[in-house]
Formats: sequence, structure tokens, C-alpha cells
Amino acid sequence: MSSFAPLYVQVENSFQHHFSRKPLVVSSPGRVNLIGEHTDYNDGFVLPAAVDKAAYIALAPSGSTQGKWMSLDFPETVTVDFQNITTNSVRWANYILGIVDQAQKLGKPIPAFDCVVAGDVPMGSGMSSSAALESAVIFALNELYDLGLSRWEMALLAQRSENEFIGVKCGIMDMFASLHGKVNQVIRLDCRDLSFEYFPIELGAYKIVLFDTGVKHSLADSAYNTRRSECETGLHFFQKHYNPNFKALRDVPITMVQANRSRLPKEVFDRCLYVTEEIQRTLAACEDLKNGDLTAFGLKMYATHEGLRHLYQVSCPELDFLVDAVRDESSVLGARMMGGGFGGCTINLVHEDAIEGLQERLAKAYQETMGHKLGMYMVVTGDGAKVQALS
Ligand code: GLA
Repeated sequence: MSSFAPLYVQVENSFQHHFSRKPLVVSSPGRVNLIGEHTDYNDGFVLPAAVDKAAYIALAPSGSTQGKWMSLDFPETVTVDFQNITTNSVRWANYILGIVDQAQKLGKPIPAFDCVVAGDVPMGSGMSSSAALESAVIFALNELYDLGLSRWEMALLAQRSENEFIGVKCGIMDMFASLHGKVNQVIRLDCRDLSFEYFPIELGAYKIVLFDTGVKHSLADSAYNTRRSECETGLHFFQKHYNPNFKALRDVPITMVQANRSRLPKEVFDRCLYVTEEIQRTLAACEDLKNGDLTAFGLKMYATHEGLRHLYQVSCPELDFLVDAVRDESSVLGARMMGGGFGGCTINLVHEDAIEGLQERLAKAYQETMGHKLGMYMVVTGDGAKVQALS
């Protein structure tokens, strides 16, 4: 088996080698998000696109009550007792276990299966490698066992798995994008009712470029949950003092937040201000895209970064360095940290003629100042979850 074969071929070959039968092979992609960060769990708007990097799963029923799971990226083989789905000490297996657990909770029988998984979404980069795997697993189970779930229901199930089984209180954006992505399209998703609209990516001479800090700080998951609860604290304040029918920070006007600076703990105020501003900014940014005003769009990306840095406080020195370093580059329309934060990538809109030179300058400065190697990905959009080959 050549390691240069596409990953869907590699997982299929590995499955056949270990289990001597043909599997179903499914992939589901990672995502980028142009704007609308930390708004999904506040019922706001986001603007993600699926990328051409994905998680892959080859699977088939095992015919017993146990399944054997393997990964091309990690050494362990995990044996799973399907009559007793619990968390495992092998981290990657939990993303699959959580999906099985949630499907069972929906009353869907999930006969034991063997599988081989792999992925090329860089882990810890902010491109949602875990949501890609979760989405691949539920999409595969839906095909294999005819669960009758829509993509919409699969996204919600994957989110519940991450929330309840993994323990990260993430929003819906990552799995939604992984399941609904389309080549050359961004998705404007209303996270309140999951209504969405595709927009063609029309960036002219500009490209979406990710610069990867190469760091992932360990506080990422716990700080994420803390931010979520700070937003809830803010919401409760506005429900109590203004309107018990407010369902999320989405319902609170920015002016109402501003008027309560002195009545709220500073951190709660800052979080609420960021979220309410970001929801408005995302809507305005979609208008910029529709009008072809990339300059205005780019400025909003910088504004988002400042909010994430100072008000929401989910950035880190490495991300700030990479955004500050491109701010005065005329070839860069906008830049900001992307995803949950505390490491991972910045997303940038860069003129195509300038990318190579910028990468060289930035890599040198980043190495000298931060002591890390700079990664770079040119974003190529991709389709959402799909069957790669039928057994
Ligand atoms: C992570 C979460 C998403 C979203 C982003 C921030 O990627 O999984 O639900 O909240 O952070 O926008």
C-alpha cells in the first residue's frame, strides 16, 4: 500500500488488510470560518466553508457485540464493547464512541462495527479536525445502518456528542459546515434556527490563506467552556433586568450592553459586548461580500481580532503577532485569529501576487520573535460529508 495514495484509498486498503472484507468509506471535511467567531452558541451568525482536508472512516459491521477500531494516525487498536459504550483512555476513540452513544440515545440500534480512521485536517489548527471525524462517523453510520437522519440532524447529534461525551460545550458551526459544505461556497448560517444560505466565494485576486502558529495552548477547552458560561451569566442579567424572553445574547441590543457597563462584572461586560458586536459585524460583513467590497470585509476581520483579543480574551501572543505583522501590508485586506482560539491559525485575505513574499517575511519574523516554525495553508474549499466508495 503506497502512503501516497489518497487517504480514502489508504483507509480502505488498511481495513481490507486487517479485516479481510470490503468496507464502506466516508469522508467529512474540516472548515474555515471567514467571520462570526464565538457567536454560534449565542444564537448568532457564522460564515464557514468546508475545506479539502477531511477525516476518513472505513467501516463494516463486525458481526459480534465487539468492534475493533484502528487509526492510521495513532498506534493503538481499541476493542469496543457495544453493549457498554463508555469513555476510553484512547483520545481519538472517544470521538467515535460519543457518536455511537448519541445514536443509541436516539433509540437507533448500532450493531458493532470495525473501522479504520485517518485524517489530514491538521490537529489543533482551528480547522476542526474533531468535528470532521464526528461528522464522518455519523454520516457513515447513517449510510451503513440506514438511520434515516438528515444532515441537519446529524450535525445536531455530533454537537451533542462533543458537548456531552467529550465535554466541550461547542456550538453547531463546525459539524454543520462539515456536513453541509460545498465547493466554492461559504455558508451564512443562522445558528438560532439553522437556516442557511450559500454564497459563492468571489475574491478576485485575493486568496484565503491560513498562517498556522503551530501552538495549541492547553487551556483551550476549559477556557472555551468558561466563555460559554460567562455569556450565560450575561444573558441571565439581561433577562432579569430587561426581558425574560431573551433567549440568547443575540436578542440583546449592543446599546443595552453598553448602558450596563458599571452594573456588570468587567469580564461579563466585555464578553457580552464582543458577542453582540460580532453578531452585527458578521451580518454587515455578509453585505460587504454581496457588494463585492472586500476592503470593508477585511477591516471587519481586523475588528473581530481586536474584539477576540481584548474583550473575549481567547487570543494568544503567537496569534496576535501574526495579525499585527500583516496589518500594514497593503497586500493583506484582513486578518484575524480563527476558531476557538489560544493557538491554531490566523485567517488572512491576501493578494495572490504577494503570498510567497509575505510567507517568507512572516516565517522569518515569527521564528525570530516567537521561536516557532510558521505553517501556511492555502484554503481550497471542498464538499461536505460524502461516501467515497461503496462496498
Ligand atoms: C470552536 C467551536 C465552535 C465555535 C468556534 C468559535 O471551533 O467548536 O462551535 O464556537 O470555536 O467560533
